[in-house]
Amino acid sequence: MPDGYTEVERYWVDEPYTFVSIIDDTRMFHYQVAEPSLTTYEKEILERVYEDLQDVLTLKDTSKADKNAVLADKTLSLFERYHALLDVASMHRIMYYLRRNFRGYEKIDPLLLDPHIEDISCDGVGVPVFLYHTKYRNIMTNVVFEELELNSFVIKMCQKSGKQISIGEPMVDATMSDGSRLQATLGREVTTRGSSFTIRKFKGDPITPIDLISFGTCSIDILAYFWLAIENGKSIIFAGGTASGKTSILNAVSLFIPSLAKVISIEDTRELTLHHENWIAGVTRKSFTGGAGEVSMYDLLKASLRQRPEYILVGEVRGEEALTLFQAMSTGHTTYSTIHAGDVQTVVNRLENDPMNVPHAMLQSLDIVCIQVQTYVNEVRVRRSNSIVEVTGLDARTGNIRINEIYHWDPAVDTFKQAGESYVLNSIMQSRGWKQDKLVSELTNRGKILEYMRGKGMCDYISVSLVVQAYFLNPERVLEAVRNDNLQEMISQHL
Ligand SMILES: Nc1ncnc2c1ncn2[C@@H]1O[C@H](COP(=O)(O)OP(=O)(O)O)[C@@H](O)[C@H]1O
Ligand SMILES: [Mg+2]
Repeated sequence: MPDGYTEVERYWVDEPYTFVSIIDDTRMFHYQVAEPSLTTYEKEILERVYEDLQDVLTLKDTSKADKNAVLADKTLSLFERYHALLDVASMHRIMYYLRRNFRGYEKIDPLLLDPHIEDISCDGVGVPVFLYHTKYRNIMTNVVFEELELNSFVIKMCQKSGKQISIGEPMVDATMSDGSRLQATLGREVTTRGSSFTIRKFKGDPITPIDLISFGTCSIDILAYFWLAIENGKSIIFAGGTASGKTSILNAVSLFIPSLAKVISIEDTRELTLHHENWIAGVTRKSFTGGAGEVSMYDLLKASLRQRPEYILVGEVRGEEALTLFQAMSTGHTTYSTIHAGDVQTVVNRLENDPMNVPHAMLQSLDIVCIQVQTYVNEVRVRRSNSIVEVTGLDARTGNIRINEIYHWDPAVDTFKQAGESYVLNSIMQSRGWKQDKLVSELTNRGKILEYMRGKGMCDYISVSLVVQAYFLNPERVLEAVRNDNLQEMISQHL
């Protein structure tokens, strides 16, 4: 450790090989990756094995455990062939680097293994890689790339994610094999500091409504409201800035879609995860030759309408597909999508103007807009549903769109306030022929179930889906299971 620094914390990311040390130079924290060091002799052997393995290694159809075994096997036989003088510890250290380079992501492999890291960004050649760490927030690392190394690394990462990057097509958006999102640029054409990449790490299971409650993103009341609204085919747009959690909340509340309903999702990069049997997931395709072979969101959406979906999920609307989405809404489909916009007025402006061009009158088909924000509570980065508004129609006099805020977040006390009467709930009550007390009990019961699940830690998306499904088929049974404290047992019979 350099002079004048103190170590704040140290933890393993790949025991017993690699650990991370967080150090403090009194101005800021630094993230130091410490990998095993190799002697000159070990480095020579590593390079030789690396070369020779390129030819013999075909790891295509083997499972993960098998792949590591095959790699170890071939390496050992090469050690033997070279008559290498290595003790067991040296062999393990060399094996570590082979695994991380062949199977993993080389230098950034330790960063991908660290569960505290949310985003990894490399902004160019010779610039330290930056991270977003759950505990230390934005933090600089000791990982730096040289020019040629970075170019070939970016090409390799894209290839591993099934995409091609080249000087002719220097920007790529891809999904990595573990579900992480990768954005990469190649060369100095589009980014003057050289190739760059950003990885938004995939965090295992998708975020569920129960997680949203635990994170404080929404209140139980808000989720009970979404549950009822979604079950009854009300359409929602989730708006917000970059990384405000739009896609995550869209995915979370989509678990409230009745389990047998026909669902079609359309995305540029695969992010959504549902547990619905009757779900068709579409991903757009960009053509490398331009024109032919390209499948846009608009194409997919038009095609999907012929398949008679009840629920349509569109990852993010940006262009002409917005109009098709609103046409779908106005012909009785329920749709959920996200849009980049910080408030309701901007949502409306973006929808009405080029390139979306949704006619004013058509906006009435939308029922709810939820505005997500990324903000700070006690210096910790959090996501909140800042405002939930309903679209109640057009003002007959002015022709303006009429909106009605029903929940908003109060940053001073970090709680959600109910703002107005819900037009959406009233319309559900009418169409289902419910009395006011039936509506109230539907909301309270759903709230109770959500609260119970949070208390029990039943937050994975499969459990949430099974409970929603069970409630749809037989609400009384679910409520009874909550009362008898055996909901977990009840749903596990269906697994
Ligand atoms: N409610 C939340 N609480 C905490 N983290 C969240 C929440 N929603 C999303 N995230 C995290 O924030 C990042 C961005 O989320 P995402 O939904 O992709 O944002 P967007 O679609 O607005 O760009 C992801 O790493 C995700 O895991
Ligand atoms: Mg998104």
